Amino acid sequence: MRLLHVIGIGAGDPDQVTVAAVKAMNEVDVFVLIDKGSAKQELVDVRTRILDEHVRRPHRVVEFVDPPRDRTPRDYDAAVDTWHEARARALGDLLAAEPDDAVGGMLVWGDPSLYDSTLRVVDRVRARLDDPFEVRVTPGVTSPSALAAAHGTVLNRVGEPVLTTTGRRLREDGVPDGVDAVVVMLDSDCGFLALPDWHVHWGANLGTPDAVVLAGRVSDVGEEIMRARADLRRRAGWVMDTYLVRRPIGR
Ligand SMILES: C[S@@+](CC[C@H](N)C(=O)[O-])C[C@H]1O[C@@H](n2cnc3c(N)ncnc32)[C@H](O)[C@@H]1O
Repeated sequence: MRLLHVIGIGAGDPDQVTVAAVKAMNEVDVFVLIDKGSAKQELVDVRTRILDEHVRRPHRVVEFVDPPRDRTPRDYDAAVDTWHEARARALGDLLAAEPDDAVGGMLVWGDPSLYDSTLRVVDRVRARLDDPFEVRVTPGVTSPSALAAAHGTVLNRVGEPVLTTTGRRLREDGVPDGVDAVVVMLDSDCGFLALPDWHVHWGANLGTPDAVVLAGRVSDVGEEIMRARADLRRRAGWVMDTYLVRRPIGR
């Protein structure tokens, strides 16, 4: 393969696929779609719908079955490293089977720069090759962008920083001193509940017909968010949520 496009496709709304992403998709001969198991089938389906809607040239789709991952490791970093290595081996084998002049494409949820390992795994694949293929990245709308837009709000206070982190790190580290605004991703435990005085802007399955957004003081809306989350999982079969928490003014 001579070129691999890594294309951000936004957080779920097919209308938020950029013109640049559509142009890149229309250069691709073979798309590699990562299959994360049946629970995430809906996410594969969204990608398939995006291809059906936007790609006007002959292309093939191959499914890449993600190697299993240890979800409860003692050493988190080592477990992720082992998983990335297994992914790189499997992806390398799959790409090596393509013709030398082929152009590949990988569609990445949101933007490839934010909590996504595709580029790291692709770097590992390239590092194993004598004459590695070129990589071109097309940015996409991130879930924090989709969240801010859904609430019509700004992530940071005027001139202030905003921390983007995961539910795990919020649980383990709390909010560092001096940080007044935090965007939290990858949190299935509603970590905002530990901040009852803070203001939360929450959004789940943004950009999809099932999207739910709620906002307010955590002590007022926290339980409603938990109920909405459980209800959404029943209705849609999957939940991906992102939230912004802001420290109350003067605290
Ligand atoms: C592995 S990260 C991928 C983030 C992605 N690269 C991005 O730019 O948004 C998955 C997390 O993104 C967030 N996310 C992705 N899609 C979302 C959506 N449609 N609505 C709300 N949050 C979403 C959730 O926090 C989810 O746990």
